[in-house]
Amino acid sequence: MSKKVAVFRKESFNAAHRLFNPDWDDARNEKVFGKCALPNYHGHNYDLIVKVVGKPDRQTGYVMDMKVLSDLIKAEVLERLDHRNLNMDVPEFKDLNPTAENIAVVIYKILRPLIDEKLDMQVRLYETPRNFVEYPVD
Ligand code: NI
Repeated sequence: MSKKVAVFRKESFNAAHRLFNPDWDDARNEKVFGKCALPNYHGHNYDLIVKVVGKPDRQTGYVMDMKVLSDLIKAEVLERLDHRNLNMDVPEFKDLNPTAENIAVVIYKILRPLIDEKLDMQVRLYETPRNFVEYPVD
């Protein structure tokens, strides 16, 4: 019998990006990425939900202290991404298209080493209220 419980922490950040493939010409970029390929960037209000799964600790009853999780997300993710131009200001996206998919993977790679390895972790990122991604997929 599994007694695992999932806990979630939601944070948000604002960031600008441009989606394009440098190997393609402008016409092909515009065809694939539409307005997201416009050269002068555009912004999104991202909602980030970090899910942590594990058995509640016997002494605290917590899977993970949510204050600790919130502080980690703020210090390690929001400090790097909030109010940034992802293409220009965030080294991870120097050669990586800052799609919601790739942003979720980058956030996961930042947080995963900082969270107890006994706990499973997943990132859900909303680029708009209707468009969102999850990583990793189980
Ligand atoms: Ni966009």
